[in-house]
Amino acid sequence: MRFSRSYFLTLPLAALLACMAERPVTSSARASESELAMPLPKADAPVVTRFAQVVSAHPLASQVGSQVLQRGGTAYDAAVAVQFALAVVLPAAGNIGGGGFLVYLDRNGLAGALDFRETAPAAATRDMYLDPKTGAVVPGLSTDGALAVGTPGTVAGMAALHKRLGKLSWASLVQPAVALAAQGFPLTQKEADGLNRNRAAFLKTNAGRPAPAYLRAATDSTRLWLAGDTLRLPALAAALVRIRDQGRAGFYQGETARLLLKEVQSRRGLLAQKDLDAYQARWRTALRGKYRDYEVIAMPPPSSGGIALLQMLQMLEPVDFPRLGYHAPLAVHALTEAERRAYADRATFLGDPDFGRVPVAKLLDLDYNRYRAGSIRSDGHATPSADVAAGENIPVYESPETTHYCIVDALGNAVSCTTTLNGAYGSHLVVPGAGFILNNEMDDFSAKPGTPNAYGLVGGQANAIGPNKRMLSSMTPTILTRQGKLALVLGTPGGSTIITSVLQAIVGIVDYGLNAQQAAAAPRLHHQWLPDLIDVEAGALLPAAQDTLRQRGYRLNPRSPWGRIDLIRVLPDGRLEGGADPRGDDAAVGY
Ligand code: GLY
Repeated sequence: MRFSRSYFLTLPLAALLACMAERPVTSSARASESELAMPLPKADAPVVTRFAQVVSAHPLASQVGSQVLQRGGTAYDAAVAVQFALAVVLPAAGNIGGGGFLVYLDRNGLAGALDFRETAPAAATRDMYLDPKTGAVVPGLSTDGALAVGTPGTVAGMAALHKRLGKLSWASLVQPAVALAAQGFPLTQKEADGLNRNRAAFLKTNAGRPAPAYLRAATDSTRLWLAGDTLRLPALAAALVRIRDQGRAGFYQGETARLLLKEVQSRRGLLAQKDLDAYQARWRTALRGKYRDYEVIAMPPPSSGGIALLQMLQMLEPVDFPRLGYHAPLAVHALTEAERRAYADRATFLGDPDFGRVPVAKLLDLDYNRYRAGSIRSDGHATPSADVAAGENIPVYESPETTHYCIVDALGNAVSCTTTLNGAYGSHLVVPGAGFILNNEMDDFSAKPGTPNAYGLVGGQANAIGPNKRMLSSMTPTILTRQGKLALVLGTPGGSTIITSVLQAIVGIVDYGLNAQQAAAAPRLHHQWLPDLIDVEAGALLPAAQDTLRQRGYRLNPRSPWGRIDLIRVLPDGRLEGGADPRGDDAAVGY
């Protein structure tokens, strides 16, 4: 399809929105649009370092990465060490039993993307989560226990990264994680709460086996974890030793593979040795787009993140955000309507590019996206999602657990990596004798077209289950450059909210001049086409702005905090400014 540039030029969204900003918006309040704007977010001072920095979801993992950088390792070396450290100190999402995506930009401006997303086992079938009699999705099958597990990709991904770009020895990068698992580490309040909250799920999923080390005193339900308690993971330490000493083979073959397959198969899961043997991380060409005077380098499919982010940025480029005001109704309108349209495309077009054609060029075509933006109403009113495309509307939310880290080394190489078990603690299935938690990533497939997954996302044929296929993801590791120089490294967990959180951080920094810590701390909004509502974090909108948005047809859904944005911004003098999301235990460490 061709879209003429003149078409969208007749719909000067920015001018209309800017014009609206000058007008009274409600007859009762008579407040001007800019009076409904929020003050810019308050935040602690960002961490600023001279040479190098790591921002991750846990202070111990950030320290491990920073130490690697200080002993001469590159950002890629540090990424390997941080990934394995997170697999120990962040049981909810750090992992060796899951997968992820990594985008990098080297000091010479060369960009790349590494896909270590899980795959469906070879025995997987399109309708494996449907009741054969009713054809309905069987609740829990794609999220809980062995049948939810996709072939893990993390160890293969780290091995591929190290083989191509690593400098320090592999063993020296895995060893810090071995030490953390063997010696133990103090639990933070948040991790203790998370493990306690998931205690029943761990007990149920691992029934019939000795209680995993993630449960404290499993025979005594009153003995829950407290902040500061030491979590020791000896079985995980043993698995990490095998990875340290044998590399990829220490996971996909031998003792760890045997333990993994024994457990999954005894619980009617589909994983087989041929899946582990066949698993390959894939190097992919990073997507490149533009937002104002920045170049945006993003993850291609099977992530939806890069495409949706670049689509939204194209739709939003004409909008004069500072003029509209921070989180003022018209600014929220512009963001929401761009999100609605990009997520509708996501549901229709996106899936594993190795299994079907994904129309990347069309979706990233400026004319196409300005055409999409052309249907955004200029009076600030909502376009119902039913008018954008068809679909069901069933709000379902689960804890979105994934994790992100950003690294910049002293040479100027940058890594942005998001990695996941999918839900908090994945499938809750722990491999006995190897101590790691398996993902429940199969839920990221569309089990049935039009039926929402755990994130309320709907999908179609492009993301149907298929043997060896990668499930669509929202993970959005992203890097921005300006005038050819590294400018910003960012990403976040948060399931379907990942893409909109990254979008808001970019708009916050580029358009509103937020610093890295403000961008990480800022209360967020989220719309994903279906369900047709705006999720609103506390403190994101003034009450009067909420009234105005409701009058304009928006449904607001107050929601507990989501996401853990981590980012590194390069300051004009070359120093690195880290932003670590205060919603989690995230920490910026560097030198
Ligand atoms: N499991 C969340 C995602 O990949 O988007």
